[in-house]
This record gives sequence, structure tokens and C-alpha cells, in this order.
Amino acid sequence: MERVLVTGAVGQIGSELTLALRDKYGADNVVAGGRKTKPSPQLRDSGPFEVVDCTDVDAVASVVKKYKIGTIHHLAALLSAVAEANPQLAWNVNINGLYNVLEVAREHNCAVFVPSSIGAFGLSTPQDGTPQDTIQRPNTMYGVTKVAGELLCDYYFKRFGVDARGVRYPGIISNVTLPGGGTTDYAVEIFYEAIRQGKYTCFLKQGTKLDMMYMPDAIKAAIDLMDADGKKLKHRNAFNVTAMSFAPEEIAAEVKRLVPEFTMDYQVDPVRQAIAESWPNYMDDSAAREEWGWRPDYDLPAMAKDMIEVLSKKLAA
Ligand SMILES: NC(=O)c1ccc[n+]([C@@H]2O[C@H](COP(=O)([O-])OP(=O)(O)OC[C@H]3O[C@@H](n4cnc5c(N)ncnc54)[C@H](O)[C@@H]3O)[C@@H](O)[C@H]2O)c1
Repeated sequence: MERVLVTGAVGQIGSELTLALRDKYGADNVVAGGRKTKPSPQLRDSGPFEVVDCTDVDAVASVVKKYKIGTIHHLAALLSAVAEANPQLAWNVNINGLYNVLEVAREHNCAVFVPSSIGAFGLSTPQDGTPQDTIQRPNTMYGVTKVAGELLCDYYFKRFGVDARGVRYPGIISNVTLPGGGTTDYAVEIFYEAIRQGKYTCFLKQGTKLDMMYMPDAIKAAIDLMDADGKKLKHRNAFNVTAMSFAPEEIAAEVKRLVPEFTMDYQVDPVRQAIAESWPNYMDDSAAREEWGWRPDYDLPAMAKDMIEVLSKKLAA
């Protein structure tokens, strides 16, 4: 059986995707690739763990050779707000890191999963029902690296036959690892603060609608796309996928239904507000639905109920 490497495995998505892949393929067959952040004991002790800096091509190649890796889930990246604070580093990690992974995949015949993002769109993109194939002129370093990454993955498939696949994730909501500095982090923080303090100060304005997804659906998307019959994929990379779209006041109303004393006020962060305003209100994900059967399980009420249940137990413990 071919083995799997997850880069960025200690991050918000990687920390849960790695465990899901270990359940599916067997713990010894899934290598967690971390860097500086310490892994949780569960991640470190449930299977192989290696330090893999994706900007070091030799480090990536040596882990791929050591474990005879067949598929790389390349999650190492700098997220939108962090990338705006350090654009040079974001270029290095998001572009040179991806290039290294694709080159190693080419040499060692690996399949690659690479998440793009709603950040790959910009102000000139149609914001309602954003089509799969549309204008992409982002004005953030994160967005620039995500569009370039989508194109690079398509290029490596067409030119070298590297089986690179990917989705455009919306904001991911989860309860295991905190988000890594994105524009949609408020939709995670709101749950922690509702339970801890009964109130939350939101950094985006009322009315700022964005696509979102609960982590179980994000994991399902990654696994289902990599399992899909490649012959049926017309796009392969950068599939729009979404599960819900809401503005801050809409998630706040849902939280209040579950935590009646909850209140929210606003202190807008101009950097993240500007980023959010350049992203879609909601995407059309029909290409993913048609080409590989994408279908999310969680809408806003189902996600909010599960988040409050899980986090209430976690924060009480
Ligand atoms: N979380 C979201 O809401 C979201 C939304 C859209 C797209 N995505 C994409 O999904 C992927 C994973 O995102 P995430 O939310 O888990 O991010 P994260 O920031 O939580 O995790 C990324 C990990 O990469 C690591 N990393 C940074 N530089 C590295 C390097 N040089 N080598 C190896 N590792 C390095 C970080 O330490 C971190 O643990 C990214 O490509 C991101 O752009 C995430």
C-alpha cells in the first residue's frame, strides 16, 4: 500500500485530516509532517512524525523516499492575515514550498492534494454565485499565491502527468486546533468566547457574507476528491466547495439560540475587513457536485449545535 505524507500536519486542517487519513489507511501509513509548532500527543504518538520544511526540497524528498510516499496532502502555507503581515515569507512558503512539493511528486510519481481558497478571488470576481471558472484578480499576497498555485498544479498535471488535485476551501470552522491567522477566524473564535465569556467582539462588519464549512466536511472533501475517478474530473484543481454562507450577525443569532445570554459587538480590523470584502459572498460549487459527487453534511444550525456541544465539554475539562 502506498503511503501518505501530510505537510503542515500540525495546523488547523492538518491536525484533523492526518488522524482521519490514519483511520482510513492505517496509522503507520500516514506520516505527519510538522515544522516548528509542537504536535499534540495524539498526533505525535498515533503514527510517524517527521519535521518537514517545505521550503527545503531535500527535506521533502528525503521523507518521500524514506517512507515510499504515494500521495502528498500539501497543507503547509501561510494564511491570509499572516501573509499580509509578511508577504515575502508568504511567497516563499506558499509558492516555493508548493513548487518543491510538485517537483518531488514529479520525480517520485506521487499524487498531490493542494487546497486553494476563496482568497483566490478578488474585487472584480462576481461575488454572488461565484462561478467555477471566472475572473481571478486578488489583491492580497495570499490570493496571488493561491491563484499561482492553482495554475502550477494544472501545469504539472498537463505537462508532467502529476496527479495534482485540489479544492478552493472557504473559511473552515473547527474545534481541535485554532485557526492559523485567516480572515474567517472570527467564526471559530465566536464559539470559544460564547462559552467562556458569553460575549464576543467581532473583527468583521455586519453584513460581511462569506462561505464557510465545518471541519468534517473539509476532511470529506479532501478524501473524496483524492478517491474520485480521475477520468471523470474536468477541472482536477481548485474546485469551488462550500457548505454555508453567512454574515457575522447571522452566526451570532445562531450562537444566541444555543447560548441565550450571548451578546456580540464589533471592532472592525481594516486589514481583514478589506480582505473579506474582496472575497465572494457565496460560491457556485456545482462543478464539484457534478464531477466527484461533493455534498456537505453540515449547514449553519447543525455546525453550530455540534461546535457548542463539543467545545462545552472540551473547555469544561
Ligand atoms: N483554515 C481555513 O479556513 C482555510 C481556508 C481556505 C484554504 N485553506 C488552506 O488550507 C491549507 C491548510 O490551512 P490551515 O488552516 O490548516 O493552516 P494553518 O496555518 O493552521 O496550518 C499550516 C501549517 O503549515 C505550517 N508551515 C508554515 N510554514 C511552513 C514550512 N515552510 N514548511 C512546513 N510547514 C510550514 C505552519 O506551521 C502550520 O502548522 C492552506 O493551504 C490554506 O491556505 C485554509
